[in-house]
Amino acid sequence: MARPQFHTLTVSDVRKETEGATSVAFVVPDDLAEAYRFTQGQYLTLRTAIDGHDLRRPYSVCVAPDAGELRVCVKKLPGGRFSGFVNDNLKAGDKIDVMAPMGRFHAPLEADEPKRYLFIAAGSGITPVISNIATILAVEPAAEVTLIYGNRRQRDIIFLGTLADLKDRFIDRLRIFHVLSDEAASTELFSGLLTQDKIAELVTQLVDLERLDWAFICGPGPVMDGGTAALEGLGMAPDRIKIESFGDRPHASALATEPEDSGDAAEVDIVYRGRRTQIAVPLSGTAILDAAHAAGIDVPFACKGGVCCTCKAKLIEGEVSMDVVYGLEPDEIAAGYILTCQSHPKTEKLVVDYDG
Ligand SMILES: Cc1cc2nc3c(=O)[nH]c(=O)nc-3n(C[C@H](O)[C@H](O)[C@H](O)COP(=O)(O)OP(=O)(O)OC[C@H]3O[C@@H](n4cnc5c(N)ncnc54)[C@H](O)[C@@H]3O)c2cc1C
Ligand code: FES
Repeated sequence: MARPQFHTLTVSDVRKETEGATSVAFVVPDDLAEAYRFTQGQYLTLRTAIDGHDLRRPYSVCVAPDAGELRVCVKKLPGGRFSGFVNDNLKAGDKIDVMAPMGRFHAPLEADEPKRYLFIAAGSGITPVISNIATILAVEPAAEVTLIYGNRRQRDIIFLGTLADLKDRFIDRLRIFHVLSDEAASTELFSGLLTQDKIAELVTQLVDLERLDWAFICGPGPVMDGGTAALEGLGMAPDRIKIESFGDRPHASALATEPEDSGDAAEVDIVYRGRRTQIAVPLSGTAILDAAHAAGIDVPFACKGGVCCTCKAKLIEGEVSMDVVYGLEPDEIAAGYILTCQSHPKTEKLVVDYDG
């Protein structure tokens, strides 16, 4: 399958969803309609130059594929460069580079099966979740969905109105439970942070786990880790749990002690867009992606956190060690794919093919 490409799109609409979150829709010209056709739960990587730096960030599509628009929602982080730019500066009519959709945060849809889903979201983690929920309820007429959605306060709840509309449309098949950490909620059960214990308590009281087909989790690292541990602890099979990480965990490479630079380097052939270029990559902790950029090769990347797979390439020769591989499936690893933002040479000669 061809690697998704960047295209410059025009912003058609910018909407404040909450005080700290803005959704942005794009005009998709007819000749690019196929390239931007997305599956529920996928994300777009946006690219712009900020203070002379080429910044790319993935943002999940927050609508269903049949919504008739391509829209993402960006929560402003304190000091966040891209999220600050989107929330404070981006306006309708602006142009911005947008990569075609990627991601696997979805399950196969089966209109004939009466399936049951649990979604656990916190904060901006609702974006790929609402895309999934709206799609499942529309496409699977017998599906039942439970959403547990954590936020600090009522006014921070992104898509509060859209969720209420969905609830009205699918009153018998959608249950929504808001959990607030910094404000009084209706009962103790719905107060507090979504920790492992809280999630286990909520799931035990609200969901029949034995009849559940899929669980989806998207939120900060502790919610994903706690949610996974809670569900597995209650007996849910790991291959029924889908997780979308926004890359907010500390990078393993940043935590690892930097090895002594012995001066040794691996000889790495980078194959990209049909060209083969040989570069030297120090055997001292440098990631192949960073070494390629330092050598002037514009290989693609987005999160640099082992999540988005934008930097995926095929290892044709040699061996690497990878810090984290959140984004790769086991069969891709078995087929020789690596995430170059996380890969360090283990052998003196490597061939890394971005076109493979
Ligand atoms: C698959 C995927 C989907 C995503 N979907 C969404 C989505 O739908 N909505 C959404 O809002 N986000 C989403 N994200 C997260 C998004 O891509 C960005 O990571 C996020 O917006 C932060 O980018 P930024 O440039 O604003 O922050 P950055 O400038 O990269 O900073 C990130 C954080 O680190 C802190 N920081 C930066 N530099 C330093 C420093 N030197 N020391 C200490 N702290 C520092 C900043 O204060 C900030 O809080 C997604 C991520 C992935 C991987
Ligand atoms: S850049 Fe996202 S996984 Fe490497």
